[in-house]
Amino acid sequence: MDYKSYIAQKLDIKELSVKEIAESIEIPPDTSLGDFALPCFPLSKIMRQSPVKIAESLKEKFVTDDKVVKCSVVGGYLNFTIDREKYADDVLREIKKDGALYGASSFGNGKTICVDYSSINIAKPFHIGHLSTTVIGSALCKIFAFLGYKVVGINHLGDYGTQFGKLIVAFKKWSDEETVRRDKLEELSRIYVKFHEEAKKDPSLEDEARRYFALIEKGDEESNRLFGLFKEITLAEVDKIYKLLNVTFDSYAGESFYNDKMDAVVEELREKGLITVSDGASIVDLKDYDMPPCLILKSDGSSLYATRDLAAAVYRHNTYDFYKCLYVVAYQQDLHFKQVFKVLELMGKPWAKDMVHVSYGMVSLESGSMSTREGKVVLLKDVIDRTVEKAYKVIEEKNPDLKDKEETARAVGTGAVIFGALSNNKIKDIVFSYDRVLSFEGETCPYVLYTVARCNSVLDKVSAKKEFTVPALTDSEYAVISALGRFPETVVSAAEKYEPSLITRYAIDLAKAFNKFYIDCKIATEDENLRSFRVELVSAVKTALTNALTLLGIKTVKEM
Ligand code: ARG
Repeated sequence: MDYKSYIAQKLDIKELSVKEIAESIEIPPDTSLGDFALPCFPLSKIMRQSPVKIAESLKEKFVTDDKVVKCSVVGGYLNFTIDREKYADDVLREIKKDGALYGASSFGNGKTICVDYSSINIAKPFHIGHLSTTVIGSALCKIFAFLGYKVVGINHLGDYGTQFGKLIVAFKKWSDEETVRRDKLEELSRIYVKFHEEAKKDPSLEDEARRYFALIEKGDEESNRLFGLFKEITLAEVDKIYKLLNVTFDSYAGESFYNDKMDAVVEELREKGLITVSDGASIVDLKDYDMPPCLILKSDGSSLYATRDLAAAVYRHNTYDFYKCLYVVAYQQDLHFKQVFKVLELMGKPWAKDMVHVSYGMVSLESGSMSTREGKVVLLKDVIDRTVEKAYKVIEEKNPDLKDKEETARAVGTGAVIFGALSNNKIKDIVFSYDRVLSFEGETCPYVLYTVARCNSVLDKVSAKKEFTVPALTDSEYAVISALGRFPETVVSAAEKYEPSLITRYAIDLAKAFNKFYIDCKIATEDENLRSFRVELVSAVKTALTNALTLLGIKTVKEM
């Protein structure tokens, strides 16, 4: 059914692998000249001939068959015309056979991929800045698992650092356990913001905070009890959000988990002669690689963010023996990961090459960048609540008799938040706007969910026979078939490029093709064969859209 690979195999270009040829085969925007096309321009360098000459000589050798019925040269393109009806038959059969596994494969062969994502900071509110890493990471986990990899999702909690000393000071001065248990993260952020306001006036608070942090490190009981309380409250709160977003983790080993694992790494760095002491601090010099030094220990001997990431990388390698270890973290930390990966390479770890920073763009507010210290954030919970509310209103208006209005609104609202965050190429910066998230028109999640609901309603109402022969296809029917056939390769590209937005884009394209077909072609026609084919097409669209949304962590609804 994978016609690109099929054509690539038949082409048999010595200079390139079948995979490479298949990847360069395109679906032309205007399919009147051909259903697939190979642009020969990139080949001209390798084969030292003009693109037209290459296209012509490839055409000479190409043997058409019952699948690929015609091959022609247009400019520097080699165009292929397929037997569309046969293709449709292949695609529909495969979708019917595979169902919820349509697009899945065993390509990963059980190799392990670690995905470090979400990695929230304890005691800080879960704001929309953490939405991208959470939904991109979760989608990547689902995509890789779908492709036969063993996935380990890791929430590398930010549960270490002087901010916890600050919180203890703030807690002792301006709060108490009862209030914290009642108001949770709101109270913790209130006192965190207050600490920074007060510390501007009274810098001695900072010293006190450092003292408390040192106490946590030394294992002081009271300080650790409070720290444990902050952690427990944060995790209980974010867990609710993870549930809404269908996000799960295999490990919550955060920064503090590596407290007793850093000495060994520092020792190894020393043994390998990689440490230099500069102003009392231990660093790995990276001048030769055009980077500032990687800080390993401060002059007082305390560890840093990078030290913990080095220990975490070694631990993950020893524990999971990963094929790849991904870090879904904003591009703000590009340098940090470059440094950490370079240090691992200098340590002689052959697996350093398997570390990948999956970098993404930043979210800012229309009023400027977010700041937890100043309390200038948009809480993810508020965003979800508002989209769910809006979804409820729309449903009330358009379909007041719907049975499970609340549940449907929850699915549509949270779906909209996830889909919105996965709509752009991940590296793009986003300015958050409620208007955009709350818009249900155009290329949005509600549009795709509505399309699935439309499929359900057709499937409920229109009868069909199991067996049919694919009739001569109209252009709108073929457009749907072509989109359906592209799903498996879309999943593979999304994995290879670490880009879930390819699947979001795919869902929109398929939904659009389907809705055009729905307008152009009557499904409940008298002609039983035609009707049965069209119903099967609807069923296939439902399957492909459902699979796409599931990979993004979005639940479909039966009716809307
Ligand atoms: N907690 C960090 C932050 O919010 C992200 C941690 C990413 N993961 C890692 N292994 N460094 O900025």
